[in-house]
Amino acid sequence: MTYQEAYRKLEEYGQEHVLKYYEELSEEDRAELLQQIEETDFSIVKYVEHKGEAAAEGVISPIGAMELDEIEKRRDEFKKIGLKAVKERKVAAVLLAGGMGTRLGSDDPKCMYNIGITQPVYIMQRLVENLMEVVDEAGAYVPFFIMTSDKNHDKTVAFMEEMKYFGYDPSMVYFFKQEMAPATDYSGKVYMESKSRISTSPNGNGGWFQSMKRCGLIDVIHELGIEWLNTFAVDNVLQRIADPVFVGATIASGCACGAKTVRKAERDERVGVMCLKDGRPSIIEYYEMTPELLDAKNENGDPAYNFGVIMNYIFREKDLERIVDESLPVHVVEKKIACLDADGNPVSPEEPNGYKFEQLVLDMVQEMDSCLPVEVDREHEFAPIKNKTGVDSVESARELCLKNGIRL
Ligand code: UTP
Repeated sequence: MTYQEAYRKLEEYGQEHVLKYYEELSEEDRAELLQQIEETDFSIVKYVEHKGEAAAEGVISPIGAMELDEIEKRRDEFKKIGLKAVKERKVAAVLLAGGMGTRLGSDDPKCMYNIGITQPVYIMQRLVENLMEVVDEAGAYVPFFIMTSDKNHDKTVAFMEEMKYFGYDPSMVYFFKQEMAPATDYSGKVYMESKSRISTSPNGNGGWFQSMKRCGLIDVIHELGIEWLNTFAVDNVLQRIADPVFVGATIASGCACGAKTVRKAERDERVGVMCLKDGRPSIIEYYEMTPELLDAKNENGDPAYNFGVIMNYIFREKDLERIVDESLPVHVVEKKIACLDADGNPVSPEEPNGYKFEQLVLDMVQEMDSCLPVEVDREHEFAPIKNKTGVDSVESARELCLKNGIRL
């Protein structure tokens, strides 16, 4: 792309300031900047004006969840079905680890974070150890896909190699990168990370299947005969992956997807809950909940919207292929974004200073015809690490790991 072409593209989106330092740049930096301008989809910044609209309105009604007592009664039946599917390599694990983990405040990818006390225990190690329990039980490796982003790919791959995949079979591990999106200030002007680079950030965890397709991994899925994809977040160090009971319950239900959920700890817990939106399975974010929805009760007198998602979903692969090209809503999220100050010096803000644009995996559930919310015991399966201290932190996750007999 020439300078003139780049200028015209930027002009169309009101982003001409991206070329402010062009004259100062070396030939090499100029070429890189022009290439980045060519590759960047600036149309996404229009969502700044539509902030908050991703949660499109609709008629919300309750959805039934499979609760712990029923799971207990049918555990053997579900486990048999799930274990058979794992043994037959019909189930794959997909770790969504492209995020930047800004709240945790480490420069390394979140999966490299060490939560150990007397010995190193890395977040990735915890995930692999949990997955290995299923591998050992089934006597078969679960294909393990790991999504990274430009921001953390090289370090993540190098870390896995250095750690010898924590004992996992490397031939069953497939890395792929997600897309990036520009980040902007509050008025929708894209930030510059340096004089020759636009600030970009991973575009959310919702585009994972599209990214798999782009990277040619659908062919691998077909070759291996994978029928179910279990996606999960990097930060829950207690989560069960390719959990045979969850897999079996979803298969037995005939639903196109399943969502692990926890019973809400309190009325105002900040967790998205399962519901039906216009009759389709959906997740309503805690900030979209009205007092009426928060206080609604079911026929047993329990809260009608009581099952919060923990970002562990299983999707029927052929349904993902059906929806892969449909566009998901874009969420405009306030975050801390590294940028240049007025004098062109790089700054790392202490507080949020603008917007990132993200598509979310939870919005994929609504594209599915049916979903089975499956309750899990939060004490045993939910220890997310979002922050350094306080709620959902390294501290709270350590406490839960210790309670579950994990040596740290
Ligand atoms: P979070 O919503 O916690 O975002 O991601 P984050 O970027 O990791 O952390 P903060 O908000 O900056 O502190 C939930 C899960 O989704 C993944 C994360 O890696 C994590 O597993 N994710 C998030 C992606 O894979 N890609 C993204 O673009 C964003």
